[in-house]
Amino acid sequence: MKNTREKFKRYTVTSALPYANGPLHIGHLAGVYIPADIYSRYLRSKGEDVIFIGGSDEHGVPITIKAREQGVTPQEIVDKYHKIIKESFEQFGISFDIYSRTSNKIHHETAADIFRTLYEKNEFIEQTSLQYYDEETQHFLADRYITGTCPHCGYENAYGDQCENCGTSLSPNELINPKSLLSGNVPVRKETKHWYLPLDKYTPWLREWILESHKNDWKTNVYGQCKSWINHGLKPRAVTRDLDWGIKVPVEDAEGKVLYVWFDAPIGYISATKEWAQENNKNWEPYWKDKETKLVHFIGKDNIVFHCIMFPSILKNEGTYIVPDNVPANEFLNLEGNKISTSRNWAVWLHEYLDEFPDKQDVLRYVLCSNAPETKDNDFTWKDFQAKNNNELLAIFGNFVNRTVVLTHKYFNGLVPEIGELTELDKTVLKEIKAYPEKIGKSIENYRFREALNEMMNLARLGNKYLTDSEPWKQIKSNKERVKTILNISLQICANLSILAEPFLPFTSNKLIKILNISALKWKDAGKPDILVSGHQLNKPFYLFEKIEDPEINTQIQKLLNTKKNNEEEKKQINPAKENIEFDDFVKLDLRTGTIIEAEKVPKTKKLLKLKIDTGIDKRLIVSGIAEYYKPEDIIGQKISILVNLAPRKLRGIESNGMILMAKNSEGKLCFVSPTENFNNGSEIK
Ligand code: 2FM
Ligand code: ZN
Repeated sequence: MKNTREKFKRYTVTSALPYANGPLHIGHLAGVYIPADIYSRYLRSKGEDVIFIGGSDEHGVPITIKAREQGVTPQEIVDKYHKIIKESFEQFGISFDIYSRTSNKIHHETAADIFRTLYEKNEFIEQTSLQYYDEETQHFLADRYITGTCPHCGYENAYGDQCENCGTSLSPNELINPKSLLSGNVPVRKETKHWYLPLDKYTPWLREWILESHKNDWKTNVYGQCKSWINHGLKPRAVTRDLDWGIKVPVEDAEGKVLYVWFDAPIGYISATKEWAQENNKNWEPYWKDKETKLVHFIGKDNIVFHCIMFPSILKNEGTYIVPDNVPANEFLNLEGNKISTSRNWAVWLHEYLDEFPDKQDVLRYVLCSNAPETKDNDFTWKDFQAKNNNELLAIFGNFVNRTVVLTHKYFNGLVPEIGELTELDKTVLKEIKAYPEKIGKSIENYRFREALNEMMNLARLGNKYLTDSEPWKQIKSNKERVKTILNISLQICANLSILAEPFLPFTSNKLIKILNISALKWKDAGKPDILVSGHQLNKPFYLFEKIEDPEINTQIQKLLNTKKNNEEEKKQINPAKENIEFDDFVKLDLRTGTIIEAEKVPKTKKLLKLKIDTGIDKRLIVSGIAEYYKPEDIIGQKISILVNLAPRKLRGIESNGMILMAKNSEGKLCFVSPTENFNNGSEIK
């Protein structure tokens, strides 16, 4: 087992590069950027050599689609969102050493160089396959650029990679009546060559590196996903695409092809390091090539396979790079019980939050960290946000600092009083203070940020309790010397908090530094009982946190309720009637009543059930995309309506013979259109 607290010479900390096709929301912060920022700030405070890398991911199909939707160029889209995203990060104090972008020249060169090196080492497999092509616009079509009818639910606007109606993952070849989104024409299939990374060949190394040597230090969710991928058998993965937005494939005979966005994006971490090194007159190479560098990737759970399997395989086989020491991926953050969704506007957008809660960056940082989805998906609610501000930040941290500083001004004109003879309580408190830097540091180094934050707050709790138990306000008349000691120790706790809270609450730490009238201190200074010397003049106190009242929170809740209402209205919209058909067309459909007699899940799929149906005519198999809505055991005996003369189709290798009629209910759940009377199987529906 690896020791996570092993000493390294330097640290390269990366955080996933967000797609520059929309603004940031709280899920981004909670999942990736707050943990990465805490980790980097902590390492800097410890005096480590650390570089914290961020940037925008500016390639890939979602960006070209957004550009088409808005009638602008992809470059205009990425320029717009790169700026918005960068600003949000700055405003929330995400302390990147560099925030770059993958449309930069240096990135194009770096990614192309790495591709070329692998190509020259003969690492890639070149393979030709048939892909959909739009003859009018002369483009090969990415999966998202093809629409057609879903073979599972009949939805007519399914995409080549997924049906958004029934949720089934698709491949473009499965679509019925495929159409190009570019011209509306029927695409043809045409041969195209691509380069594949042979992940199957790298499996023994991946098995050894991840499954053997990171069994105990990688998070369970990360390790588990890797294990499942590896054990299911890795296949060669295409690392090029037919697209005109991205990094040109830098070899001969690759006209019209670009690098796959997941090939180039993680290389963005390296390009950004080069850019930072150029700007700061440093050498980038040790940060990526020296074995004594600890490389850590902070990501969300949907990025695990790319950062644990694909990118390390690229780095390892390029030959001169190190691979990550850890990939601490978080689960997802939900909002008020529902998945955050950009398309449904179910999110708290960072730029809107800042408009509505200016100067409350640390409140959001605190709430998102204390509730971070470290081991499971978690929920953000506005009520919890309010409670954490009022009952924790304000009532514990803010209140303690304020009482201490106000009393020092009242009794000693704001001068730090001398420490006198120590009681048993004082000694215990001083001993506890001493232990905090190590305790908090250990949790951070083990990527347990919620625990670390809670420990930091325990120090504030300790201060609050100490002050309350010692009651200096009752002793000031009779025992001024004792009050001096109490306030001296309380002030030392405040000074400690300014150091230990900094990774989590940088804005608050800054304010505290101002109140204490000191300059920023480092982690090594924390734990000490004499950070503030007696006679030191404090500044006048001001509030670190403000109470958040009900109306402010109700406004936010109402905003979400409005969004929900709008979404429901949209969902209720009925599709317009299709074109008329002749009676002769209708009678071609052989619709019958039937009964499900057996049901089981199709292995390795989330959406598909294999059903045996008694149609009255025969007993036959039908594969249906309803696993999300029904458990197999619950639908045995279910009466159904079925189209029995649909030509057989193969789904996941299983021949499906017919289609079950389904309709969405008012909640959007796909339900059986069942005969209500007592029909025999095989009764014709006319
Ligand atoms: O999931 C995403 O938002 C990707 N843009 C993350 C890329 S991370 C890295 F590879 F750059
Ligand atoms: Zn569907």
